[in-house]
Amino acid sequence: MNRLGIVGKLVCAAMIISVALLAFTGFWAMFRAQALGGYLLMVHCTVAPVFCFFLAAMAVIWSGKNCFERGDWRQGNRAVTLQKVFFWLMILAGIPVILSMVLSMVPLYGTNGQEFLYQLHRYCALFFVLVAIWVSKGIFVRRSDHE
Ligand code: HEM
Repeated sequence: MNRLGIVGKLVCAAMIISVALLAFTGFWAMFRAQALGGYLLMVHCTVAPVFCFFLAAMAVIWSGKNCFERGDWRQGNRAVTLQKVFFWLMILAGIPVILSMVLSMVPLYGTNGQEFLYQLHRYCALFFVLVAIWVSKGIFVRRSDHE
C-alpha cells in the first residue's frame, strides 16, 4: 500500500476526512454527554455514506496487496504482515460500525435492541478509529521511509 497512485491518494484523503468528521461529530456529542443531534447529526449522517463508499473502495483497491502469503511471518516481514492484519481489521471493524446503525433504523428490534445497537456502534466506532490511525500511520511512515 506504500506506493499510492492518484486514485489511491484520493481514496485515502476522502477516507481520512470522512473518518475525522464522523469521529469529531460522534465523540464530541459523547464527551458532552448529549445525544448526537442537530447540525452534528446532520453532518454525521451526511458523511456516513461517503465513509461507506470509500471503505468499500479501499477494500477493492488494496485487498490484493494485503493478501496473506507464505513466509509472511518470517523474520524481516513481520512489520508488513502486521500492517496487513491491521488493514483487514479496519475493513472488518467497518462492517459492524455501519450495520449497527443501519439495523437500528429499521423497525425490527425493540427499544432494548436499539440501545444495544447504539452502544455497539459507539464501541465499534472507537475500535475502528484506533485501528484506522494505526493503518494510516503505517502508510505515511512507510511512504516517508521510501522517499
Ligand atoms: C468511523 C466512523 C464512525 C464513527 C467514529 C462514529 C461515531 C459515533 C458515535 C461516537 C456516536 C454516539 C454519539 C452519542 O453519544 O450520542 C454515533 C452515533 C450515530 N452514528 Fe456514527 N460513527 C461512525 C459511522 C457511522 C455510520 C457509517 C453511520 C450510518 C450508517 C452512523 C450513524 C450514526 C447515527 C444515526 C448516530 C446517532 C445514534 C442515536 O443517537 O441513536 N455513524 N456515531
